[in-house]
Amino acid sequence: MKGIILAGGAGTRLYPTTIVTSKQLLPVFDKPMIYYPLSVLMLAGIKDILIITTPNDIDNFKKLLGNGKRFGINLTYKIQEKPNGLAEAFIVGEDFIGDDNVTLILGDNIFFGPKFSTLLSRAKKDVETQGGANIYAYMVKDPNRYGIVEFDENLNAISIEEKPLNPKSNYAVTGLYMYDNKVIKYAKSLTPSKRGELEITDINNLYLKNKNLRVEVLGRGFSWLDTGTHQSLLRAGMYIQTIEENQGIKIACLEEVAYNMGFLTKEEIIEQIKAYKNNEYYDYIRGLVE
Ligand code: TTP
Repeated sequence: MKGIILAGGAGTRLYPTTIVTSKQLLPVFDKPMIYYPLSVLMLAGIKDILIITTPNDIDNFKKLLGNGKRFGINLTYKIQEKPNGLAEAFIVGEDFIGDDNVTLILGDNIFFGPKFSTLLSRAKKDVETQGGANIYAYMVKDPNRYGIVEFDENLNAISIEEKPLNPKSNYAVTGLYMYDNKVIKYAKSLTPSKRGELEITDINNLYLKNKNLRVEVLGRGFSWLDTGTHQSLLRAGMYIQTIEENQGIKIACLEEVAYNMGFLTKEEIIEQIKAYKNNEYYDYIRGLVE
């Protein structure tokens, strides 16, 4: 299983903050936004990861994360010339995906909840053993902003509509998608929607039509946070701060995830963090491994 983080986009809702930098490099409390989706892929046990971003931002992502060795993973980078839609990730990433399955996560999505790693490894196994796709639905209060899933009484998905005027439910499709290799063929078959984008909803509908789409609902104990507006970005930062300070743990600390997943040994972590300045983040990691 390969991983892709889609970290391009225009970020116009966050102007002027995002005029000179990518939204995904802005801080969510104590770390850059991209750490959160990257930690999700690592928790799924995925080590080969492609970061797709804009021509303007690619060098800054490379400066921040490098080749990924610091976290025991392999990072590569590609440019999406224009925000032509989420489904373009599989066209830009075609060579990187090769014959493999792939998980896509949006660079501005934050997931946090109990038993999340178990859920991720189960989904990965589903796609590896049965093919098809695993996606997640989450109850939202403003359903016309999202791709919306309609379920039957047994919680089987029966339709998905992008930003519907008359939503058939309040369940939004989140920005985490696991697909078999057919996703490349499906992405290439799409034509741009009315808003001019290659829509991920169209890909999900192709899987649905072929009876190979599993939609799992993330319950109310789960948090899926969006960071696309000034209000939601600030709320996400305060949410992370509250949990981290209550519990004395960190969310999406990549060194910690690498250590827990066995991607890096204790000695390797200590070696990697030598270059860090002595601060609270550094002390946290030292405390973990020592
Ligand atoms: P959006 O929030 O839909 O778009 P955006 O980030 O460009 O912001 P705005 O609406 O304020 O202009 O994007 C969701 C995520 O997907 C975000 O992480 C950016 C990324 N993205 C791409 O990388 N390429 C794309 O073509 C699109 C549409 C989004």
